[in-house]
Amino acid sequence: MEFDTRAFRNALGSFPTGVAVMTTTGAVPGEAEDASHIGITVNSFTSVSLDPPLVLWCIDRRSRRYPAFATAPGFTVSILAAGHKAVSSRLAGPGEHRLDGIELIPTELGPPALADSLAVFECARESVQDAGDHAILLGRVLRFARHADVGAPLVYFQGRYGALAQGTPPDGIIGRRVTDSE
Ligand SMILES: Cc1cc2nc3c(=O)[nH]c(=O)nc-3n(C[C@H](O)[C@H](O)[C@H](O)COP(=O)(O)O)c2cc1C
Repeated sequence: MEFDTRAFRNALGSFPTGVAVMTTTGAVPGEAEDASHIGITVNSFTSVSLDPPLVLWCIDRRSRRYPAFATAPGFTVSILAAGHKAVSSRLAGPGEHRLDGIELIPTELGPPALADSLAVFECARESVQDAGDHAILLGRVLRFARHADVGAPLVYFQGRYGALAQGTPPDGIIGRRVTDSE
């Protein structure tokens, strides 16, 4: 039986996730060799271990951002809020890894975080493991902050952005879609 990659991808999209932006400091192939701050939008972020505190995410090894993230000593995780939809789309664009014009906050350990994130995790790179066309980046959390007053998270489901519904949802409905006009 032939494996239908597109159908596989669509099926994986049935799993609703949050959205995060990973930032690091590094050079991107084909650009100035000086290291600069770069970012990438991901939904593969997940917690791994509480003690020691470990998180992971997966990066496409074909991404031009891959060499920087795979070799940098660490990365910063910004958990996006519903209001970050535009910045999330921008940092998911081909070649759109620069952070110019994006509102940032400095961190203690290096790579900046996105302003108004729900939470920020400052990580040291623990390991990079090849996994098919992606690599699993395991990070040890050295510092973190939670900003409980920021509001609703940005949500990704079946290839589209959404947000959690406010208040108690009716049975069977866990969210609503954010349309482009919002
Ligand atoms: C919601 C969302 C989640 C994404 N999650 C991931 C991810 O977990 N890992 C990844 O490598 N790319 C992910 N991408 C794609 C990257 O953001 C980006 O499009 C890609 O790295 C661009 O390629 P380039 O680095 O060669 O410019 C995601 C895109 C979107 C919109």
